[in-house]
Amino acid sequence: MAFQNIVITGASSGIGAALARYYAKPGVTLGLTGRDAARLGAVAADARAAGAAVETAAFDLRDRTALNGFLAGFETAHPIDLIIANAGILDGTRADGTIEDAQTARRVIDINLLGGVDTLHAVLPVMRARKSGHIVLVSSLAAMSPLPDAPAYSASKAGLMSYGLAMRAAVAPDNVRISVVCPGYVTSAMTETHIGEHPLKISAEKAARLIARGIARNKPLIGFPLPLYILSLIEPLFPEFVVRIATKGIRFHVEPSS
Ligand SMILES: NC(=O)c1ccc[n+]([C@@H]2O[C@H](COP(=O)([O-])OP(=O)(O)OC[C@H]3O[C@@H](n4cnc5c(N)ncnc54)[C@H](OP(=O)(O)O)[C@@H]3O)[C@@H](O)[C@H]2O)c1
Repeated sequence: MAFQNIVITGASSGIGAALARYYAKPGVTLGLTGRDAARLGAVAADARAAGAAVETAAFDLRDRTALNGFLAGFETAHPIDLIIANAGILDGTRADGTIEDAQTARRVIDINLLGGVDTLHAVLPVMRARKSGHIVLVSSLAAMSPLPDAPAYSASKAGLMSYGLAMRAAVAPDNVRISVVCPGYVTSAMTETHIGEHPLKISAEKAARLIARGIARNKPLIGFPLPLYILSLIEPLFPEFVVRIATKGIRFHVEPSS
């Protein structure tokens, strides 16, 4: 299916920017959001150079009025047939070993989980009425294999995965599609703040291609790279001590960029 009107949140960097560049072509209108207007503008310029029409909006996802306002305006002008709720943050254990506090946990869950849920609901009624549309939620392999160094991040991604898969079945009769993306390590600004090993890390461009392929096939779960995806799926079957030993080498801390 060739999508014409595509919204990508968190398009100013990393996976979102790579997705914007992937989908940019003549006949396509992109709605790109993020916080950093300059980086968002640079991605928009690349997309326009590839022939796409582009609208951008720089706002914090926690400003739900701004989110709903942008999506309603874009939808009126360009009925959305694909929206990728990709914006997200990582936080967790700091260099001195301090584990996350309640305030950090709430911020991560607000942006990653509730931000994704609100993005979905901003477009779901109109897609259900139209009986078409594809909503993609970018979760993480941490949804299946929770990270001791990022509990709220893991919870937010598990919540998003569960919400998306449950909602996929709920709205299938209306011909609205929902897919959940579970990436492993991908080169981006986020992984620069993740101080530790990044096994089987892939580029944001490769991640965008894998995500787009999964979307085109209407897969419920788009997980990669395959070895880590399989390990994440079967992890709950192993005794806790085996998981602790096996994951010792991927413990990390977070050094937020701002
Ligand atoms: N990289 C990985 O290894 C990896 C693995 C699994 C899942 N993921 C998920 O993939 C998604 C994209 O991450 P990435 O790796 O591409 O990271 P990234 O390069 O840091 O990009 C994150 C994007 O989200 C936006 N964003 C963050 N907080 C926001 C907020 N409060 N309001 C509005 N926009 C906000 C950022 O906007 P600004 O930069 O303009 O602030 C940026 O465009 C995230 O949901 C992440 O959890 C990444």
